[in-house]
Amino acid sequence: MSDKNKPQKNKSQKTSKIPPRPTAPTQDAAGGADQASNSQNKQIGVTPQELQKKSAVATPIVRAPEGENVDRRTFIKWAALGWTAFAAVIGGYGTLLLRYLFPNVLFEPKQSFRAGYPDDYTVGEVNENFKETQAVWIVRDAEKIYALSTVCTHLGCTPNWLESEGKYKCPCHGSGFYKNGINFEGPAPRPLERFKITQAPDGEIIVDKTKKFQQEKGEWTDPESFILV
Ligand code: FES
Repeated sequence: MSDKNKPQKNKSQKTSKIPPRPTAPTQDAAGGADQASNSQNKQIGVTPQELQKKSAVATPIVRAPEGENVDRRTFIKWAALGWTAFAAVIGGYGTLLLRYLFPNVLFEPKQSFRAGYPDDYTVGEVNENFKETQAVWIVRDAEKIYALSTVCTHLGCTPNWLESEGKYKCPCHGSGFYKNGINFEGPAPRPLERFKITQAPDGEIIVDKTKKFQQEKGEWTDPESFILV
């Protein structure tokens, strides 16, 4: 059979296999659908407003996407951290307030103390019985007894009594004081101080540290700065 005798397919037959494109409903068609729906609703006795309410009630619960859950966890974590920091600050201020309302009370040793009787002291002795507890040396010479402060007049260190050298020597900067308290070496600018010393009616020695006597002011001649023996 020759090609001429074969049945010829024309172009229109080839394109007829492509499915036709859906076309958007025209306004008239949409209007027709609405009208049909309205008429259907009218047939079942439901107004469009009621139908809208029903569809709103029946809206399914939409779960938050995973990203939103993560954001919520991050927010809770930061909120907890913020509250912790806030509580720490409030606690600190509370502690300060309590410290202000209830301050520490220092119980210092009494400023006045009994130091025994004159016969308890040997002539020429520097007695150190009250050095640790009262910061006082009791000194007795041939005529009198006096109470000498153990506080260095340079910067407040405590000198040591060196019996063999007959002097008080400060370990901090090397100041030296004679037995009577007069300074003679080192940076100490003035003699040691003396305290008020008296005798109770029974003859016991009473040292009162609330009253001091300074040699450079001529106060060592004050009758309260020594007791005669
Ligand atoms: S404190 Fe005593 S010499 Fe400085």
